[in-house]
Amino acid sequence: MKKVNVCVVGTGYVGLVTGACLAHVGHRVVCVDSDIRKIDALKAGKIPIYEPGLEKVVAGAVRRKKLFFCKSIAEGMFHQGHTAQVAFIAVGTPPRSDGSADLSFIENVAREIAHSLREYTVVVEKSTVPVETGEWIVKTVNRFNKKNIPFDVASNPEFLREGSAVSDFLKPDRVVVGTNSNRAAQLLKELYAPFKCPILLTDIKSSELIKHASNSFLAAKISFINAVSALCERTGANVEDVAKGMGLDKRIGASFLRAGIGFGGFCFPKDLEAFYWISRQKGYDFSMLRAVKEVNEDQKLWVVRRAEEELWNLGGKTVAMLGLAFKPDTDDMRFAPSIDIAKALIERGARVKAYDPVSMANAKSLMPGVQLCKNAYECLADADCLAIITEWPQFAKLDYKKVAGLMRHAFILDGRNLLSPKDMRDLGFTYRSVGRP
Ligand code: UGA
Repeated sequence: MKKVNVCVVGTGYVGLVTGACLAHVGHRVVCVDSDIRKIDALKAGKIPIYEPGLEKVVAGAVRRKKLFFCKSIAEGMFHQGHTAQVAFIAVGTPPRSDGSADLSFIENVAREIAHSLREYTVVVEKSTVPVETGEWIVKTVNRFNKKNIPFDVASNPEFLREGSAVSDFLKPDRVVVGTNSNRAAQLLKELYAPFKCPILLTDIKSSELIKHASNSFLAAKISFINAVSALCERTGANVEDVAKGMGLDKRIGASFLRAGIGFGGFCFPKDLEAFYWISRQKGYDFSMLRAVKEVNEDQKLWVVRRAEEELWNLGGKTVAMLGLAFKPDTDDMRFAPSIDIAKALIERGARVKAYDPVSMANAKSLMPGVQLCKNAYECLADADCLAIITEWPQFAKLDYKKVAGLMRHAFILDGRNLLSPKDMRDLGFTYRSVGRP
């Protein structure tokens, strides 16, 4: 295997996992972040995010002197005598109020990389960006590359999921490389040679579109099954069987057909918006994306609607929310459905208590007016309704006999179809789940 010197700018989910995993397979990687506290923490062996398996991979790569952390792009690009051959841009592209992606961090990093070029480098956009961002990166690097060092730009979108980021990165379904340069393609093929998966070579714009289209398609699958679940609830059909029956068709596939209270996180909602925005910008109204969003927004109110059906007015009633993260195995609460659900319940006068196994620190600032509890049982004491918001496996293992005794009203709204309807009804609960009789 040919070892490549890599600089990764940005140590968020994508940057840190990319850097750590590339170092894990033997490349020499320097991760850079302007957040000094983050870099100090990483140097001290502390991982700033909750991501199963990441700490071990980072520690191993640091021990083998394959992974380094530093605060400046100049140092990352030329580190202890090693010049970066590949520079990844993995900084955030946060949403602006009109739905478009704010690309100013990308521009700043491209400029800094240009200042630091010493020899041929492939500048790779790893962050999720709208189509044609690559052209702006080329222009920016050209403008600030005063010594005219040769470089190429490539797009290499990332498909890892939070919560399973390390295994997703190490065992990808595919690697997508978009570039118009054979030299860049060759280097990136060497970089990804240790990963036994197909590498799709394409142009930069197609690669950029692959990322937005993939996330939007997956979001569409979720909204589709959630819309089907609404029909199941109105007819007595079972959405799990419908999804199974659909998913057995290889053309459809079984994944991302789990009905629930809607998708959240820092990817699907913002990428859907940004994809819609860029298509409008290009003169095409991608109306299907609007429908995907509308179904999702409506689905988040499932808990509120069902709670009102059972409890009538929510004023003076207590709802216990179990799970706050946008999905299990992460402490990430960005765009989590829990935030909108709690807000809607509080607006209707409900008292809201909540517990999540790992997101409590993040919840403090994001859930004003919500009483945060130390454990699930404390959360459920005197509640009129238990709403399961995140399908943490430990919530399936609670002592539900005890739960029934603790609650004022033995009523469960299972927003993630985590529990068995029969078991819960046998224990005396009024039990409702998404799209299941
Ligand atoms: C998503 C994509 O799955 C990754 O491929 C992509 O790299 C990433 O966005 C990104 O762009 O960075 P992620 O947001 O980490 O990954 O999480 P997912 O596992 O995709 O789940 C997203 C949301 O959809 C969660 O709220 C989850 O509960 C929901 N979901 C997922 C469903 O409601 N039903 C399903 O069947 C699947």
